[in-house]
Amino acid sequence: METRVIPVDREHLQKETVAEAAELLRAGELVAFPTETVYGLGGDALMPDAARKIYAAKGRPSDNPLIVHIADTGALPKLASEIPDAAWLLAERFWPGPMTMILKKKPIVPDATTGGLATVAIRMPSDPVAAMLIRESGVFIAAPSANASGRPSPTRAEHVYEDLNGRIPMILDGGSVPIGLESTIVDLTGETPMVLRPGYITIEQLREVLPDVQYDPAILKRVRDDTIVAKAPGMRYRHYAPKGELTIFEGDLAAVTARIQAEAEAKLAEGARVAVLASEETKDCYRGLTVRCVGDRDCEETVAAHLFETLREFDRMGAEYIFGECFPEDGVGQAVMNRLMKAAGYRIVRV
Ligand code: TXA
Ligand code: MG
Repeated sequence: METRVIPVDREHLQKETVAEAAELLRAGELVAFPTETVYGLGGDALMPDAARKIYAAKGRPSDNPLIVHIADTGALPKLASEIPDAAWLLAERFWPGPMTMILKKKPIVPDATTGGLATVAIRMPSDPVAAMLIRESGVFIAAPSANASGRPSPTRAEHVYEDLNGRIPMILDGGSVPIGLESTIVDLTGETPMVLRPGYITIEQLREVLPDVQYDPAILKRVRDDTIVAKAPGMRYRHYAPKGELTIFEGDLAAVTARIQAEAEAKLAEGARVAVLASEETKDCYRGLTVRCVGDRDCEETVAAHLFETLREFDRMGAEYIFGECFPEDGVGQAVMNRLMKAAGYRIVRV
């Protein structure tokens, strides 16, 4: 299958631009499109065959459920069987935007989309291309991140092409996405609202609307050791992963950079290909190493925006060992560190 890449000018968005993509979706085909978080791989959420095509294109296990994207809150009662007040409060405050809520599903949402679960994940993206595509197609769009399963999520159309060329008919190219990390997921089906995945919307922001929101304990779980953590808690936690072995170092920043320098030099001496994931503030601390700056510590949004792209770059350069710095975990830093630790398979060294 030929994959066509269609440039989209978001300043001058016109219905005609997405008309063909909308037609493909209505025909049960897949289209990759930009959202404000990451690129999504979309298909008709109510068509089991479209969902199956998504899993096949990504090489994703079909028990991992998809997020259903909507363009207005009127869609909620069509997809969810119970809508607690909390859902309306969250929708009013954070939609359209990078927040996904989990609700009990209606039978109309097929098991193929929810991975057999009785619940459904719903999000209203703020990206104008995404919104127009949902409206023009007239379908609810099931869309996981448009990467091949296990790889870092795509923040540019080129990344989608890299992973899915030949597997899908169309990519809408809207340039770089503004946020760069996937949406915050809030589960509203239990007694207490739970954050299942941290994202750009922080738990503090959520608590302004729902004071009792908690993190799912799995998010906070980390494996630490004073030596290199040998045993990560299973490969099932390794997502967003570069091909090389990524290790994260945490502690006092000067000690961290010194330790990374030493570890990297040791691997270089063995003849390995080594790279360092650094920040604007630290990138000049390293000598004789291949260093990539992921962003500015003073502005964690820049780190979020470039994290996945940087992990992909390590693959392109064929890095076998990657040594990375930790970032502060406040605000969007929580999401940054969540992705970074997963990418590292929880290989974290306390310096
Ligand atoms: O920002 C985003 O959310 C992006 C863009 C494209 O919207 N989408 C995205 O989708 O990140 P994906 O498939 O890569 O991640 C969806 C996550 C998965 O971890 C999945 O397990 C979880 O949401 N999820 C989906 N439905 C769920 C459900 N009913 N219950 C619990 N978790 C669910
Ligand atoms: Mg994903």
